[in-house]
Amino acid sequence: MPEFRAPGRVNLIGGQVDYHDGWVVSMAIDRDVRVVAHARTDARVTARSHELEGEVSVAADGSDDPPATQPRWGRAVAGVTRVLADLGRAPVGVALDTRSDVPIGAGLSSSAAFEVACMLALCDAARFVLGGADLARAAQRSEHVATGVPCGIQDQMASVLGRADHAIFLDCRTLAVEHVPVPEELRVLVVHSGVPRELEQTPYAQRRAESQAVAARLGLPALRDASFDQVRDIPRGRHAVTEMQRVRDFARALREHDLDALGPLMLASHASSRDDMEVSIPELDVLVDELVRAGALGARLTGAGFGGCVVALVPAADAETIAQRATGAYRTRTAREPSAWITRAADGAGPVSGE
Ligand code: GLA
Repeated sequence: MPEFRAPGRVNLIGGQVDYHDGWVVSMAIDRDVRVVAHARTDARVTARSHELEGEVSVAADGSDDPPATQPRWGRAVAGVTRVLADLGRAPVGVALDTRSDVPIGAGLSSSAAFEVACMLALCDAARFVLGGADLARAAQRSEHVATGVPCGIQDQMASVLGRADHAIFLDCRTLAVEHVPVPEELRVLVVHSGVPRELEQTPYAQRRAESQAVAARLGLPALRDASFDQVRDIPRGRHAVTEMQRVRDFARALREHDLDALGPLMLASHASSRDDMEVSIPELDVLVDELVRAGALGARLTGAGFGGCVVALVPAADAETIAQRATGAYRTRTAREPSAWITRAADGAGPVSGE
């Protein structure tokens, strides 16, 4: 039985800029969604999840309405089926067994990973070929169709095009990807604040609309085309323009092994996300603060914000100690229950060859 996997991702820098045609640095992580596909003799796409209740069943021709699909997590299955049908996939039935260890509602792209993994299984069952940026775009569209969340392209691109031991520097306008090594002497520490969030229930779409309105007022296709002078006094625009510069500086620093530059860029990114973009919450600010106090080079909220995780770069030798100290202090200050793990850059999505 064919099996497919798609990893979650952690965004190292480049928050709220993918939908402005900006740049981001992310990496696929060693947590993924796995999907085993079983043949069916009818034209239904069905799915069971190891973690979530219920069974999903939708018509393989994509005619079922994704937002109306039950159980709720099945909207993604219906979205994927709909988008692939629109792209010309034949209505071949398949039964999907899914399993995930990407934390949900954490900012690590569990839903992009789920959609990419299901897409690979559906494509394979119908001998329909879709890969690279086309696969990422289709998965992004299925998120739009399933939940109405107007997400950008960075999550799906990282899940599809990640590479072990490398981060990806992604140009969200051209979808050009450069793989840059994650420095050996550093570890990527992810800490969950213990504050869950579901993207649909956050002001994510509102923030996106507010900042896109800035581009519209300036008569620009996207904030990528704005200069700093144009947005100097407009917080949402200022965030986007300065964040894009920080991302390019961060990519340069990785390429040139300029480790001292990385931490301050992450901290500036967090401050701008908090003050100009207003996507942080006090818990994430405390976590960043405690991580730095404990010895991280830098830290910032990751993903859409409003809860979920913080990402930090830490010296490899001190990674465990820093995680323990920071989570201990955070627990005391917030009475929240954090969880921390050291994550590694993983390969992007694909078939699982007999392990
Ligand atoms: C979510 C979206 C992404 C991106 C980030 C914020 O993860 O899915 O496309 O916009 O938020 O950078």
